[in-house]
Amino acid sequence: MKKKTVYVCRNCDHQTSSWLGRCPACGAWNTLEEETFEYDEPTSDKKNTRLSMLTRGVGESEPIALTGGDIPEYMRVKTGMAEFDRVLGGGLVSGSVILLSGEPGIGKSTLLLQLCAFLQSEGKLLYVSGEESCAQISMRAKRLGIKSDNIFVLTETDAEKVIKKSEKLAPKLIIVDSIQTMYHSQSAAVPGSVTQIRESAAMFISAAKASGTSVILVGHINKEGGIAGPKILEHMVDTVLYFEGERRQNFRLIRAMKNRFGSSSEIGVFEMTDKGLVEVENPSKMLLSDRPKNTSGNCAVCVMEGTRPIIAEIQALTSPTVFPSPRRMSGGIDYNRTALIIAVIEKRLGLHFSNCDVYVNVIGGMRIEETASDAATAMALISSMRDLPVPDDLICFGEIGLSGEIRSVSRVGGRVAEAIRLGFTKIAVHERCAHDIENVPDGVKIVPIKTIFDLLSLMAK
Ligand code: TYD
Ligand code: MG
Repeated sequence: MKKKTVYVCRNCDHQTSSWLGRCPACGAWNTLEEETFEYDEPTSDKKNTRLSMLTRGVGESEPIALTGGDIPEYMRVKTGMAEFDRVLGGGLVSGSVILLSGEPGIGKSTLLLQLCAFLQSEGKLLYVSGEESCAQISMRAKRLGIKSDNIFVLTETDAEKVIKKSEKLAPKLIIVDSIQTMYHSQSAAVPGSVTQIRESAAMFISAAKASGTSVILVGHINKEGGIAGPKILEHMVDTVLYFEGERRQNFRLIRAMKNRFGSSSEIGVFEMTDKGLVEVENPSKMLLSDRPKNTSGNCAVCVMEGTRPIIAEIQALTSPTVFPSPRRMSGGIDYNRTALIIAVIEKRLGLHFSNCDVYVNVIGGMRIEETASDAATAMALISSMRDLPVPDDLICFGEIGLSGEIRSVSRVGGRVAEAIRLGFTKIAVHERCAHDIENVPDGVKIVPIKTIFDLLSLMAK
């Protein structure tokens, strides 16, 4: 056995023989981490190691026709936690490996313990913890009111032992909390290092594929917000989920970043309460619940999260600045996008923000990534600047171009239907979209808009 130390980039898996501050392949700073390999000469072959990591579980096989009858089908189990099933594409697939990551304290362990409660009627479930003691987990279970003979807890950090013990138990689902605490006893690297994470993840993946047990791996995230460990981890697993939200607020979202068994743009919505996470079936209603009436500086918008339309509220506040260079702050919405919208308003409408601090925020800890929210951001900004409220029953969506034009958005039907369901009666959309909307109920007015000038006329007088 020979030992070799290399430095591997967390971002792109590039390898170098010495430590460097910046990865020569992808240019990222501070991403090189030490890895120690043990290998037998002369069979060591890095390429093969990488390939075997990705293909573990596929096994040796003969070519068969794709339409052949003997290809086994995947079994899907509905967990009963509707929001979780939705992100998974309709339920938990047997033998699949899911990586669930999120900030510390966001509620990953809580969510998974609650998932066990939902699944306990399906068979035995194993919750492996490398972070908390049995007593801590049982305390949390008590707090959540979970009591079941089918949920087993194991505090162990040796991946091999976990797999051996789970073989005896034959659970339907293994939860590993967290993959960063697991280690492979035959690897010389320290626990938590790139090598150990990759090795132990590979062990769980091959065990899952061989036995048909589903595995959920909890992943820590690093300072930059990515999943701690090698990038290859995300390639190895079937599904990558992010659990996100503002820790100080109660709104929590599970977002699928990759899903081999369903759409990768779905989200699940939860609220953290003193009795654990509660599913939110109607997030728009929750987000709009405390909306102030007849106040300047806020506007409703409908954004698509996967196939689901969600209505959020964008708020803007402009106030005279005391700083030589005014402050610009945006929460839940891209800062550069906000700066662009401010610039368009200044140039096209002649409203000047240069003496004002500008704060833009999306309520409820939501993050909006769609440009369809541009029109609402502009409405909120203009409304705050002129101190004229946007009518409470008005909602608008559209992307803003640099010439001040408002562009059409996708899936207008779904957005409009959600807006009508929540009681909005004035819906401002691009002219072209306005023509496509059918079955508008009485009392609801579709207002066509073409440029940001049209937004001015929508303000309450
Ligand atoms: P936890 O699941 O331990 O987070 P993670 O595993 O992602 O680090 O729980 C995080 C927080 O949730 C913790 O600060 C306490 C809070 N919490 C509640 O508000 N209600 C509850 O019922 C539980 C169990 C936890
Ligand atoms: Mg935890």
